[in-house]
Amino acid sequence: PLTAKVNSHGCLEIGGCDITTLVKQFGSPLYILDEETLRSACQQYRDAFKQYYQGESQVLYASKAWNCLAVCAIVADEGLGIDVVSGGELYTALSAGVSPEKIYLHGNNKCRSELILAIESGVTIVVDNWYELKTLVAIAEEQGENSFPLPIRIMLRLTPGIECHTHEYIRTGHLDSKFGFDPNDLDEVFTFVSKQSALNCAGLHAHIGSQIFERQPHQDLAAVMVQWLRDAAKYGLNVTELNVGGGLGIRYVESDDPPSIDEWVKAICEVVQTACAAENLPLPKLLSEPGRSLIATACVTAYTIGSSKVIPEIRTYIAVDGGMSDNPRPITYQSEYRAVVANKISASLTETVTIAGKHCESGDILIKNAQLPQTEPGDILVVMGTGAYNYSMASNYNRLPRPAAVVVSNGEANLILQRETYQDLIRQDCLPERLKK
Ligand code: LLP
Repeated sequence: PLTAKVNSHGCLEIGGCDITTLVKQFGSPLYILDEETLRSACQQYRDAFKQYYQGESQVLYASKAWNCLAVCAIVADEGLGIDVVSGGELYTALSAGVSPEKIYLHGNNKCRSELILAIESGVTIVVDNWYELKTLVAIAEEQGENSFPLPIRIMLRLTPGIECHTHEYIRTGHLDSKFGFDPNDLDEVFTFVSKQSALNCAGLHAHIGSQIFERQPHQDLAAVMVQWLRDAAKYGLNVTELNVGGGLGIRYVESDDPPSIDEWVKAICEVVQTACAAENLPLPKLLSEPGRSLIATACVTAYTIGSSKVIPEIRTYIAVDGGMSDNPRPITYQSEYRAVVANKISASLTETVTIAGKHCESGDILIKNAQLPQTEPGDILVVMGTGAYNYSMASNYNRLPRPAAVVVSNGEANLILQRETYQDLIRQDCLPERLKK
């Protein structure tokens, strides 16, 4: 994080808060969100679009990376809109006070109640497939103007057929993706939509994947999307928005080398502008929806080190009090992370260790071959870059309560997620009468 530094006690400090003190106060594991870093990333996106794009633009935060009230509130305060992918994320964004005009609902299988919540709240629905398109028309016919104003504002998600180099699970743009309309159906889709008075097709959307380090795939995408925009006009559709999705990668470890936010935005804006000029099209409102690159580096997770196991000449395991339940990315995607010891930040790195979680599963390893100083139980291990897809993918595996999260800024720490308790864990459990003792 931007505000990380070593304080006079030789401990790591973020947002003016000593991490070891935060752990004493809030316990561990603890997600620590640096407000300044998050706000700065929002500003970098906003400023880059302002600088490189002559038309209107809107950055949306892909809240699947980390959706909770405080994160939605900070991001919205920076002027960003929010991309949500479920009724739960939508409900959270609305509850945080995000304006519905700046909320976009995604998903390849939104259920009826999610669609109705979206329509009634006045958010834009990013329609993924024929089933959803027809369901929306049916809902509009059934409910009519009595329940909500028509037309329903939608965008169409299309699969661009662009390959990019990233982990297989997080590629979405290739043609056999489960997401979006097949571009070969474009004629049929545009014809259908152009006849629906209940639908206002405001834009087109595509997303090609996540943790991408190259600029070319997004430039190719932008070029393809402008062609779609031109085609839409031929069907009399007044499509004025293009959403190029998210996907910019971040540096988790030294060897990761993503472009900067500025470079990424510039690359896309240039292509859209050039392609629109070539086609003689007015510039669309340009949207993008980054998740990871907005929030990943703004958060660290603090753990307390406990047991260790030395297997001579093979490996030393150091175990922490969390693991795959608060950060499922290493076990899911073999993702790499960096870690430091908050209370030994200036000590020399003498040990190569494997940092294990506490779950009953051998694969529950957070970092292989981490370079650390000599550690002992009670030391505070800090894993960097955990803002994206950590809390949002956290589970209660082995019935571990989910960690607390705090936001830090100017020496102040505020709780944004309470630590779950054992009572929380059994709150939704039901014990049928006949099983009660
Ligand atoms: N828009 C859409 C439609 C998406 O599906 C995604 C991510 C984003 C935007 C944001 O992408 P980002 O800027 O964060 O790369 N759980 C995986 C990542 C899954 C990404 C899913 N979609 C991980 O932990 O790496």
